[in-house]
Amino acid sequence: MAYENILFEVQDGIALLTFNRPKALNALNPQTLEEVRDAVERVRQDDALRVLVFTGAGDKAFVAGADISELQKMNPLEARLFAERGQEIVFSLEALPKPVIACVNGFALGGGCELAMSCDFIYASERAQFGQPEINLGIIPGFGGTQRLARLIGRAKAKEICMTGERISAQEAKALGLVAKVFPAETLLEETLKAARNLAEKSRVALRAIKQAVDRGMDVDLKTGCAFEAEAFGVCFAGQDAREGTTAFLEKRKPHFTGT
Ligand code: HXC
Repeated sequence: MAYENILFEVQDGIALLTFNRPKALNALNPQTLEEVRDAVERVRQDDALRVLVFTGAGDKAFVAGADISELQKMNPLEARLFAERGQEIVFSLEALPKPVIACVNGFALGGGCELAMSCDFIYASERAQFGQPEINLGIIPGFGGTQRLARLIGRAKAKEICMTGERISAQEAKALGLVAKVFPAETLLEETLKAARNLAEKSRVALRAIKQAVDRGMDVDLKTGCAFEAEAFGVCFAGQDAREGTTAFLEKRKPHFTGT
């Protein structure tokens, strides 16, 4: 499919998806969601693509939310279907057996914040701002924000953010555990791509095992989560990478992982 609202670039095994509607601060309309769905599927199917990075075009916004001019026209059924469509996409990021990094270069609001929260971790520029301002439109988050924000930063702070609609800075988001690292705006993309290249050299099997163990474990009690972990730990030993990593350490050399 040809893309109008996103850019999709590939380099060194890294797929860089850039939301590209800067005039609307990269707001998500149905067409953009469809393009993102298509691009994520491409990343899923292509073994050569090891890491997916999301960012926004322009220096103002990552994604300023769902497109409000579209929301304004929706009836209840259309609104529900739109929320479900977006939820399918954010779930597909969690189901992707590869690391996904949000490189948040500006406003990450509403659906933009929800999308970033579905990535494995968030790197943000000093200028980034996060928020769930739907309350100011008389609506609520719909791409999983009420659920993921509460799981990430605790329910009281999540409720405060969703109820007041107030934005928080990158530094505040980092203090809350929402953002992993903050960089100057000028170096954010390069630092994120550097991290992505670093991940691309690690064991694919182990990265997938970490992602699945953490994500599956979040929804269950500690014992069940640890059972997932032990199972995933065992899976690592079924391939060559565990042998290669441990042998390379003992031989004092750099490991070469093949993902087998
Ligand atoms: C459509 C948007 C938009 C959005 C910005 N624009 N956000 N268009 N949908 N979410 C457009 C503006 O209308 C404007 O278009 C242009 O982008 C620049 O925005 P300004 O407001 O002029 O910029 P600024 O004054 O710098 O303010 C930036 C801002 C503000 C604080 C980010 O744009 C803002 O509050 N945006 C809305 C954020 C929001 O409420 N997001 C949540 C949406 S609901 P023109 O044509 O005038 O230049 C949501 C629900 C998700 O995400 C779940 C759905 C199921």
